[in-house]
Amino acid sequence: MGRPDLVADAHLAEYDDHLQHMIKRNYQDWGDMFSGRAWRVVRFGEPQNAAELQEMSWAEPSSGQILIRVRTAGAGFPDLMMTGGRFPLLGAPPFGLGEEAAGEVVAVPPDSRFSVGDQVMGITGFLEGWGGYADYAYVREHSAILIPEGMTDEQAGGFPIGFRTAYAGLVERAPVQAGQTLLILGAAGSSGATALQLGKALGAMVIAVAGSREKAEFCARFGADHVLNHRTDDLTARIAEITGGRGVDLIYDPVGGDTATTVVKSLARNGRIAVVGLASGAPVALNPMDMMLRNYSAVGVLAIPHADPEAEAAVWSRLADLVEKGAITTPVGQVYGFDEVPRMIAEQSAPRPGKSVVRVLDSSS
Ligand SMILES: NC(=O)c1ccc[n+]([C@@H]2O[C@H](COP(=O)([O-])OP(=O)(O)OC[C@H]3O[C@@H](n4cnc5c(N)ncnc54)[C@H](OP(=O)(O)O)[C@@H]3O)[C@@H](O)[C@H]2O)c1
Repeated sequence: MGRPDLVADAHLAEYDDHLQHMIKRNYQDWGDMFSGRAWRVVRFGEPQNAAELQEMSWAEPSSGQILIRVRTAGAGFPDLMMTGGRFPLLGAPPFGLGEEAAGEVVAVPPDSRFSVGDQVMGITGFLEGWGGYADYAYVREHSAILIPEGMTDEQAGGFPIGFRTAYAGLVERAPVQAGQTLLILGAAGSSGATALQLGKALGAMVIAVAGSREKAEFCARFGADHVLNHRTDDLTARIAEITGGRGVDLIYDPVGGDTATTVVKSLARNGRIAVVGLASGAPVALNPMDMMLRNYSAVGVLAIPHADPEAEAAVWSRLADLVEKGAITTPVGQVYGFDEVPRMIAEQSAPRPGKSVVRVLDSSS
C-alpha cells in the first residue's frame, strides 16, 4: 500500500480521479494525514530489542478496512508472543504491533458504513502487518463499532479483543446458560476479566481464579461470585465445596499448563473446557481417555470474524448494547505512554490486574 507523492503539478493529473474521490470524503491534506510513527517488530527477541519506532505512511484503506487516527490501543500477552516469535498467526518481521485500537476515522473506502469523523474502536489489521501502536491504524470495518456514549478512550482502546474473544467463547463456541457454573482461569487478565463480565451478563455463576490478593479483589469488583487463588488454595477442594461436589459446567481457559490440568479434574459430567490461550507457557494437556470416561469435551476458541460481514457486525452491536446497558465494561489496568511500548510488552510476562492500554495520542492534543 503505497502513498502517491503530490510533488508536482505534472503529476497531479495522474491522481485526478483519486483526488476528487478523496475530497468528496472530506480529506484535508493526505500528505500529512497518513504519515506518522509506528511500533514495529523488526527482529524476534526481547521487546526492547525487537520493537522499533519507525516512520511510516498509510495509503487510503481498501474495501473492508477503515483508517483511524489512533488515540488509544489495547495491549496484552499476545504482544509478548509476537515480539518473541511465538505468535502462531504471524510470520517473520517486520510487522506492526497492536491488535486493537480506538480513535477517529480519517479515511474510508467508498462502500463503508462509517464516515470520516466517526469515533470508533475495533480490531486492527495486525494479521496483515498493520498494528495499533501507531499514529494511524487500519481497522477491520466489520470488527469495529462506534464508541458507545460515556466510554473513556482507555476503555475503548482496550475493549475489542477481550470482549470479542469472550463472545466467541461463551456465546458462539461453548455457550454458557444462565444458572450454569463457569470457572475462569487468569480471571484478572485481559481475556479472563472480560469473560468474567460477559459470563455474569449471561447469567452464569462465576468462579474466578487469580494469583494474588490484589487480583482476587479486582475479580470480586468485576462481579465474580467466588475467587480462588491458584497459588495458595487447593483448587480441587475449593471447587467441590462451592459446587456441592458437582463440579463446574464450563472452564474458560486462557492460561493452560498445570493450573488448567488441575481444574479439568473438577469438570461436571457433560462439562466443557474452552481452550483460549496459554498464558502459563503451555496449552492445557488433555487426555482423550479421561474425556471419554468422564463425558466432557474441549472446544477451541479463536476470535476470528464471521465470513458473513453482517453476522460479524451483529456480534459487535450486541456487545455495544451490553456496554450501553452497563452490563460489561473494559477492566482498564495500567495505562502506558506511547514511548513506553517496549517496557509495556516486557511487563506482560507478569501483568498487573486488568487490561493494559497504550495512550498513543496525548489527551491534551
Ligand atoms: N483464542 C483467542 O482468540 C485469543 C484472544 C486473545 C488472547 N488469547 C490468548 O489468551 C492468553 C492470555 O492472554 P491475555 O492477554 O488475557 O493475558 P494476560 O492479560 O497476561 O492474562 C493472563 C493471566 O494468566 C494468569 N496466569 C499466568 N500463568 C498462570 C499460571 N501458571 N496459572 C494460573 N494463572 C496464570 C495471570 O494471572 P495470575 O498472576 O493471577 O496468575 C494473568 O493475569 C494468551 O495465550 C493469548 O494469546 C487468545
